Amino acid sequence: MTSIVVSSGGAGYGLLVDDRGRLRQAGFGPEIDSHMQQLPTGIPPALYPLAYPAYDEEPTRAPSLRVTHCDGTTTTRLFVEDVRVIGSETDIVLVDPDCPLEVTVCFHTDNHGVIRQWVRITNRQLGAVTLHEVAAASPLLAAASPHLTHFGGGDWSAEWTTTVEALTPGTKVVDSRGGVQPHLQSCPFFLLAPNGRPAESSGIALAGALAWGGNTRFAFERTTAPTVRVWCGHNPANAEYVLDPGATFITPEQVWVWSTEGVGPLSRRLHRWVREHATRDGDQLRPIVVNNWEATSFSFDTERLLGLIDHTADLGAELFLLDDGWFGDIHPRDDDTAGLGDWQVDEAKLPGGLGPLVRRADQRGVRFGLWVEPEMVNPDSTLYTDHPDWVVGQQARGPRRWRHQLVLDVLQPDVADFVSGVVDRVLAANPGISYLKWDANRPLTDPGSPTLKPDRQANYWVDHVRATWRLMETVTERHPDQTLMLCASGGGRVDLGSLRWFHEVWLSDNTDPVARVRMQWAASYFLPANVVGAHVTREGDRPVAFGCAVAMSARFGFDLDFAGLTEDERTVCHRAVELYRDIRPLVQQGELWRLVPPSERAALAYVSADGRRAVLFAFQLTSGTDELGPLRPGGLDPDRMYEVVPVDLAASPGPTRTDVDRQHGAALMEEGLEWPLSEPCTARIWVLRSVSQ
Ligand code: DGJ
Repeated sequence: MTSIVVSSGGAGYGLLVDDRGRLRQAGFGPEIDSHMQQLPTGIPPALYPLAYPAYDEEPTRAPSLRVTHCDGTTTTRLFVEDVRVIGSETDIVLVDPDCPLEVTVCFHTDNHGVIRQWVRITNRQLGAVTLHEVAAASPLLAAASPHLTHFGGGDWSAEWTTTVEALTPGTKVVDSRGGVQPHLQSCPFFLLAPNGRPAESSGIALAGALAWGGNTRFAFERTTAPTVRVWCGHNPANAEYVLDPGATFITPEQVWVWSTEGVGPLSRRLHRWVREHATRDGDQLRPIVVNNWEATSFSFDTERLLGLIDHTADLGAELFLLDDGWFGDIHPRDDDTAGLGDWQVDEAKLPGGLGPLVRRADQRGVRFGLWVEPEMVNPDSTLYTDHPDWVVGQQARGPRRWRHQLVLDVLQPDVADFVSGVVDRVLAANPGISYLKWDANRPLTDPGSPTLKPDRQANYWVDHVRATWRLMETVTERHPDQTLMLCASGGGRVDLGSLRWFHEVWLSDNTDPVARVRMQWAASYFLPANVVGAHVTREGDRPVAFGCAVAMSARFGFDLDFAGLTEDERTVCHRAVELYRDIRPLVQQGELWRLVPPSERAALAYVSADGRRAVLFAFQLTSGTDELGPLRPGGLDPDRMYEVVPVDLAASPGPTRTDVDRQHGAALMEEGLEWPLSEPCTARIWVLRSVSQ
């Protein structure tokens, strides 16, 4: 019997290869090294479950892999053929000796405590095999009282709705469909606390994320035994995959992080990893953005936009983003019924094109950004008139419209060229743009393409994601200096796979700051604040100061009609921008400490890596009746003296230096700050700086 340990920061997998060559799991959890050293000897290895059971290998558990082989055999038997450890990657090659199929279970570890795993399947048979279900990962966890936290409200504007539930016997499935923007239904992230409800700074916790820009499935199998088995992968529903002889199928990657001290440390580790590996330029600060969408929707002209650009500059914001509605020369994009696909400026709306806008932005020292939705087409467009066969659809019937639009079939080489060319042409025709918001506003329906043989049409679900990712990669390679935001009807594409080509995501079209506190909180389990776009809008009709404070706790921006602001509101926005410039390195690069989970109130802090600077945000969401103790920041240096500057963005005439207090780090962390708020939709920000004593 051979043992294999795959661990990162001490956490991970303990695996065994038994004498018959079966791969078994001896453990998955924190402190795996010591767990493996303490494995009792003399226990028959058969008592350990198979690590990657194929269909019919274990009659009582759902298979990790289900395949129909080329001769019609529906069962699979997997034996270890090779174990390769090269640097931080471990590949365990399993083969079926009767039906030649090579199934390599791959792991990658790194120094952030993050483990990635995926499965690579190569068809060594003479005919095609059909992959019905292929898990990227399917570990078994010791779990006395497992609690699952999952995210997603099932619809537009409800992303990141958080559910925490105890897992009871049976299988709990959290999955998503729709190919494009499936994350509107269910985000591809979860937390699992094996021994009770998850806590911020105590207890074992596991974060899981599937790095996949398509449909995902997490299934949590629980029996009366103190264990949970977690099945993670692309959603097999309707998506069997036909794999030709010699061809290889690679699953999406599943990302894991363990913590023995609650979800706080787990998030901080994940944030460091995301900045370093899962997003672009993760160590760089993001600009303060002004977007026109919530202020103007499709109704704007050059004058209105010039006014917004001037406001952007006056405010001290750094980038103006022109959203949907700027294009469609023959089929003007005056609403969402026409123009998609025709990426020429609508000169009737914007005489002289974007030039005057870009120039004004440049003169005022503001960067210029532009919205595109390159994968889509309105039937009411020149593109569709010229190429009605370029859309995703089935042979037997015409495709269905959704938001009046169709999805371009990026499996067709001409279409892929067109889509990547959209960005080339838009940037060439409109010099001076340095930021793109890439949107996608409908799900995939009628999945099918003439590029696939009739018996391979179901491959579409997976191939579409891969083709889309290739396009995203092409765009980033050709335009490495563009800052890119990923959006899909709001937060429909927030995943750790697609993010690698983007600098930030649009989390949701729900911008009511009360809802945003909850959403940003949920997303913060996995995503660092510098990738989470958060804009102040009028949604929810909340005070602008409150909206600013909430947006400032992520990547700050505005979606406001500045002309409609009162003088006081304008002052608040100015103050917010000034303060954000100061605290931005903390928010965007600091360590997050979640202090008070959102119910009536919420609070969080960002602390610099050296503990010398920090910013705390406190939000009063409703009129509070909850008893709340003082607000205790974490991560400070107990031996240092801190200057504590409270900021109330709404205060008149504004915060004064007399409010400044000095306190020891130890006192701040133990005794804390008194909760200062009682009115709903108010906020307080404290800026902490260590000073010599
Ligand atoms: C959906 C996005 O989430 C919005 O921010 C906006 O860009 C619209 N699409 C434009 O159609």
